[in-house]
Amino acid sequence: MRVKPIKQFLTALTPPPDKSITIRALIMGLLASGTTYVYNPLVSGDTVSALGAVSALGGEVDFRGGVITIKGAGSLLDCTVDAGNSATALRLLMGAVAGQNVTVKFTGDSSLCSRSHRAVAEALAAMGADISASKAPLTVRGKQLSGIDFVPSSPSAQVKSAVLLAGLNASSPTTVTEKIKTRPHTEEMLRRFGADITVDGNTIKLNPSKLSGAKITVPGDISSAAYPMVLALRKGYCYLKNVGNSRRELIDFLVGIGGEIEEEKGEYSSNLTVKQSNLRPFTVSGALSTALIDELPLLAALAATIEGESVIKDADALRNKECDRIRQTVTSLKNMGVDITENADGFTVRGGQITGGSVVTKGDHRIAMSMAVALALSAKGGSVDDDKCVEISYPSFWELLQ
Ligand code: S3P
Repeated sequence: MRVKPIKQFLTALTPPPDKSITIRALIMGLLASGTTYVYNPLVSGDTVSALGAVSALGGEVDFRGGVITIKGAGSLLDCTVDAGNSATALRLLMGAVAGQNVTVKFTGDSSLCSRSHRAVAEALAAMGADISASKAPLTVRGKQLSGIDFVPSSPSAQVKSAVLLAGLNASSPTTVTEKIKTRPHTEEMLRRFGADITVDGNTIKLNPSKLSGAKITVPGDISSAAYPMVLALRKGYCYLKNVGNSRRELIDFLVGIGGEIEEEKGEYSSNLTVKQSNLRPFTVSGALSTALIDELPLLAALAATIEGESVIKDADALRNKECDRIRQTVTSLKNMGVDITENADGFTVRGGQITGGSVVTKGDHRIAMSMAVALALSAKGGSVDDDKCVEISYPSFWELLQ
């Protein structure tokens, strides 16, 4: 795919529905009794994988008129789950099945099978789960679980979620205490499905619970909205409708470095107006690196357009995403003439102008989209080696750059 430099970016759009929320709604619909309605779901590679998994496990799914309907499975079925590229689907489902009377083999594409799921496997093993390996293909043999008091050693919404979903079926309560808070979708949605769950500061307490079907409306995904936001901050203006409110750290961060962003706030989602702005170089570290983990390659591209030195650190989790996102961000931005240094836990960017060049995505959707934005903001443009991988989270992404 050839990406040309853009002179001006002026657009109004509704970003794709949230991937994390869609996948959770499908999984909880599988576990719940009765019918779950998922309005405005994301339809993309990862959510299609999750839907396939839910159906293989015995959920009755139907998709029409923009609504996914799921009738809960009652008892889950022994099967093989192919989670495709989706670590969220694989890891959350590992937790969901670990305490059920079922044997499930999990597999995925080559990227997913090369990633370690050790943190999930170890946390579930502490509850009594039987998991054959820390890399897929792996098999989970359902066992009676006990609740645990879990303090994750590294922040991860997926690990937290796997433990909570396993805790639904345990013989005693489960608590999760996060040193650094991660996205709250699982605990928020478990309550909507009727779980006995409370959140007090950084501690979530879950009593074993039966879920009942719920009606979930999925708001727009801030991680996908981030691409037009960055294009607008550098090249013009955009109006974004229906961006979910659960994760607002990106908005606060961009405003903090000089971004002009106006919000019309709704209860669950907001409309955002983003304008071309003078931005300052920045540091992202600590809890903010966790909150912005999926946006960091894009922020490296943004940093490359801002005069001065920007640092992104405490982000070693990037190395175990769909690819090693530190390595691929650095390689691609270097190919575009950017002065960037690879660090163990992030990157240092000395920004100015991006010349342009070629991007090697390793099939990673967020590398493809983040680096395509860098090319759109460059002097000469360049090429992206895989245009299909954006299907994983943002199938209409390329329309942004036309
Ligand atoms: C996600 C959590 C994050 C994020 C991923 C989606 C989720 O992963 O990178 O894209 O939906 O829970 P970690 O939990 O591994 O940090």
